[in-house]
Amino acid sequence: MLLTKFAPQLFSLLAFAACTLAVVLPSRSELDARVYHRATSELVQSGSVFTIHNVKSGTVVDLSAGDNKTITGWALNGGKNQQWETIWSGNSWNFKSVETGLYLGFTGTAGNATNLTVASTPTGWDIWHDTVNETNYRIFAPNTTVNWDLWDYGNAVSGDPITLWGAWSGIHQTWRFVQV
Ligand SMILES: *[C@@H]1O[C@H](CO)[C@@H](O)[C@H](O)[C@H]1NC(C)=O
Ligand SMILES: *[C@@H]1O[C@H](CO)[C@@H](O)[C@H](O)[C@H]1NC(C)=O
Ligand SMILES: *[C@@H]1O[C@H](CO)[C@@H](O)[C@H](O)[C@H]1NC(C)=O
Ligand SMILES: *[C@@H]1O[C@H](CO)[C@@H](O)[C@H](O)[C@H]1NC(C)=O
Ligand SMILES: *[C@@H]1O[C@H](CO)[C@@H](O)[C@H](O)[C@H]1NC(C)=O
Repeated sequence: MLLTKFAPQLFSLLAFAACTLAVVLPSRSELDARVYHRATSELVQSGSVFTIHNVKSGTVVDLSAGDNKTITGWALNGGKNQQWETIWSGNSWNFKSVETGLYLGFTGTAGNATNLTVASTPTGWDIWHDTVNETNYRIFAPNTTVNWDLWDYGNAVSGDPITLWGAWSGIHQTWRFVQV
């Protein structure tokens, strides 16, 4: 009886919900990002430590031992200055240097050719699956279209700067996480 009485309202409520859903349904990569953020069955979890390998060059994200500030691609050498702890902050990821305890970030505005650096204050990042090869990741400044990019189309020389750059299909903007 009750069900009959409220069924039309229930139906229109459901129809309304379905419409709303259809409008706000996230794109594939947005969905991936959210699943990824939840970090339940994913490779990258809060508190894990990684070396982060550029897919093009094979070099890894390296904090300069010379100045404890400059971030470049460098041949893997087992140093703690190449190890990064991923920390979920509630709405984005932080990368904390195992060597110094400082956080990966950047100075100035997030744009093309902005160098990565480290700071004592955490910077938030979004880690998204690359949509072409989902084994690999792209790391974006949150709510922007710029992601980590190994300079010069992924030059493999040690000391090649890592900057932000507008996302395009280049695989030198994609990264492989290897747990330490
Ligand atoms: C870099 O930081 C490490 C760890 O805190 C320290 O041992 C080292 O002396 C620092 N190097 C420079 C160049 O400041
Ligand atoms: C970025 O880093 C590169 C290489 O380390 C350097 O030549 C350049 O001047 C830096 N850019 C800025 C804006 O600091
Ligand atoms: C995806 O990238 C990984 C390196 O991270 C590589 O080993 C693998 O072959 C790639 N897969 C495809 C289909 O290209
Ligand atoms: C990105 O934008 C969304 C929606 O506007 C917001 O909820 C979220 O907090 C933003 N992320 C960061 C890290 O600012
Ligand atoms: C930044 O780089 C992207 C990709 O190469 C390009 O599409 C965009 O126009 C550049 N933005 C600026 C402000 O130069």
